[in-house]
Amino acid sequence: MESSFDNIVDRRNTNCAKWDTMDVKYGGSDLIHLGVADMDFKTPDAITEGFRRCTEHGIYGYTDLSEDFYKGILRWFEEKNRVKLTKEEVVFCPRISISASLAVQIYTAPGEEVIIHTPSYDALYEGIIKNQRKALQSPLVKRGERFEIDFEHLESIVTENTRMYVLCSPFNPVCRVWMPEELEQIGAFCVKHNLILFVDEIHGDIVSKDTTFFSSLSLSEEVRERLVVASSLTKTFNIPGVIVSYLLIPNEALRCRMKEVIDRLGMHNPNIFAVAAVEEGLQHCDTWYEEMLAYVDENEKFTRQYFEEYFPEFHIYPREGTFLLWISYEKLGCTEEQLNDWFLHKAKVEVYMGSKFGEAGQGYFRMNIASPRAMLEEAYSRMSKVYAEVTGQ
Ligand SMILES: Cc1ncc(COP(=O)(O)O)c(C=O)c1O
Repeated sequence: MESSFDNIVDRRNTNCAKWDTMDVKYGGSDLIHLGVADMDFKTPDAITEGFRRCTEHGIYGYTDLSEDFYKGILRWFEEKNRVKLTKEEVVFCPRISISASLAVQIYTAPGEEVIIHTPSYDALYEGIIKNQRKALQSPLVKRGERFEIDFEHLESIVTENTRMYVLCSPFNPVCRVWMPEELEQIGAFCVKHNLILFVDEIHGDIVSKDTTFFSSLSLSEEVRERLVVASSLTKTFNIPGVIVSYLLIPNEALRCRMKEVIDRLGMHNPNIFAVAAVEEGLQHCDTWYEEMLAYVDENEKFTRQYFEEYFPEFHIYPREGTFLLWISYEKLGCTEEQLNDWFLHKAKVEVYMGSKFGEAGQGYFRMNIASPRAMLEEAYSRMSKVYAEVTGQ
C-alpha cells in the first residue's frame, strides 16, 4: 500500500543543509544525500496548518511560551517515557547544540574535565573543547554486536578535576538505546564522583519496534538532583529548521543558573513558528509519529536485505534507536579516504564517514534511512552498479 512517506519531495533550492549545502560542499547536484540527520519526509499536516494560521494572521511579534506548549511536553513525557514532570522543570532553549555548550560553560570552569563517549556526535564533543575544557574520552567497547560503556575505563580516567559527564541517549552515531541498568550505573558513577550528568535525549522518540526508550529522568532522586536533560521534538516531527528545544532540570539551583544565562543572552523568547509546531505536534500528530516509526523500521528491513545480497562486506550494527545506521566496512580493507571517494565520485551517494565522530569512528560510516524507500533503492542501486570498484573484484 502507498504511504505518504513514499512521496519524494525535491528539497533542492530551498536553502536545505542536507541537499543544497552538501551539493556545494561536494561540487555536484547529482548526489543522493544520506548524511545530515533530518528526514526527507514532509512534516505532519497539523504542524503545517499551525504555521498557516500564523502566516494568515500576518503579525510576527515577540512570542512567549503557551500553557499548551508546557502541557504538551508533560503529556508526551508521561505517555511515551512514563516520567511525570512539572512545568517548572521545563526550560526553553532554541537548540540542543546551544544548551550542550551552555551547560559546559555554566557547570564547569575552563581547564576542568568533562567525560564523553566516543565515537561522539560532533557538536557534543566540540561543546567541551571549544569552551576550553578537557574532554576525557571513553570509547564505547564492542561486545558482540553491541556497543557498551566500559565502566572500568571510566573509573581509570576520572580525576579530582572532572566535573561533568555528557551522555547521548539514544546514542548517535552507534544507535544504542541505553537499558535501565546501564543508566543506573552511569547515575551511580556520577553520584560517586560528584559529576553533573548532561544527557542529550533528542533521539529519545525514535526507537525501533522492539526497543523501549528509558529517559534518564526516570533515575533516582539522588541522580536527578545532578541531572540536566536536553530534549526536542525536532527529530520526532522533522522540524529541525524551526529551531526549538527544551531542557528538563529537576534541581532548582541548577535550573536557575541555566535560566539566568538563557535570559541574559536574550534566548528566552521562542520563534513564533516554534510554539505553533510544538503545540500542534504534541496534540495532533501521534498517528503520523507512529506511522513514521513503522516506515523507518521497514526501511531498515529493506536496507538489511539489500546489503546482505549486494554488499556483504558492509556490516550493519543493530539499530535500537535513531533513524540512522552504523555500518562497518572493515572487511573491505580500504581506507576511509578510498571509501569516501568511491561513495562520492563512483556511487554518487553521500553518507557520513566515521571519523566525523572522532578517531573511534574510523572503519565505520553512518547512513540516514529516513527517506522515501524509492530514494534509498535508487541510492543502493547506484552503489551496487559500481560495488566491484571498491571491493577490487
Ligand atoms: C545527538 C544530537 N544532538 C543534537 C543535535 C542537534 O540538535 P539541535 O538542532 O537542537 O542543535 C543532533 C542533530 O543531529 C543530534 O544528533
